[in-house]
Amino acid sequence: MAGDNITLETRGLTIRFGGHTAVDKVSCAFSRGVLTAIVGPNGAGKTTYFNLISGQLKASEGTVILNGRDITGLPASQRTALGLGRAFQLTNLFPSLSVFENVRLVVQAREKKGFDVFSLARSHSELADEANAILKRVHLAELADYQVSGLSHGDQRKLEVALMLAMKPAVFMFDEPTAGMSMDEAPVILDLIAEIKEQEHATILLVEHKMDVIRTLADRIIVLHNGALAADGEPAEVMKSAVVQEAYLGREIADV
Ligand SMILES: Nc1ncnc2c1ncn2[C@@H]1O[C@H](COP(=O)(O)OP(=O)(O)O)[C@@H](O)[C@H]1O
Ligand SMILES: [Mg+2]
Repeated sequence: MAGDNITLETRGLTIRFGGHTAVDKVSCAFSRGVLTAIVGPNGAGKTTYFNLISGQLKASEGTVILNGRDITGLPASQRTALGLGRAFQLTNLFPSLSVFENVRLVVQAREKKGFDVFSLARSHSELADEANAILKRVHLAELADYQVSGLSHGDQRKLEVALMLAMKPAVFMFDEPTAGMSMDEAPVILDLIAEIKEQEHATILLVEHKMDVIRTLADRIIVLHNGALAADGEPAEVMKSAVVQEAYLGREIADV
């Protein structure tokens, strides 16, 4: 049954800013092992939808359910602890510590969660090994000892992914992960997202503008338009739907 694999669900999720409804009664369920691309024009409400899910914003109406539990009333930090992975903003990092230390601290925080006696059995060197393995995966091994504040934009984005991997979340949320990255850096992140889908059997939500990226990675596309869910389905099907052609893709396809 498909329902058994659902990790995250929003029901009637809505937020109003003054008179403007930025996210409008969005009901959607996301399953393990499925990468859902979230598309829509600028200002459609994609980032706001993420903020409502991760707890950066409080919903005006509706609920967010993670692994069967209503988390709508919980602060962002508790949602993170329950398995909701959102790329850390750089302000959450320790800029004066090294790349390695930042990753190690997140691995350690994850292990200490709940003060499980057995988690204490994991030695310091095991935590360090895990941090190093993650840095290798995101192609930051050579920069392990660099201070975070000195990293290039592209390397900072890689570190954000490293920190999310260190959290081992059930749900990975990426909001335009390659924005501002160079042509040779972006594939590192995209390959990594594909790998996360395969290896972690995770639920992945990806806000992305580039159609070639969506075609390569997405199992499903949902379209937000004026804050509302305008289409939802298999990529080929959604891309040819009238609403998408008009609202979003028509212009891009014409441009290609
Ligand atoms: N904190 C806020 N206060 C007021 N309006 C906001 C706030 N956050 C987002 N909005 C508005 O909500 C709408 C959706 O924005 P956003 O979610 O950033 O769109 P997208 O990510 O799809 O480009 C926009 O009209 C934006 O101006
Ligand atoms: Mg956005």
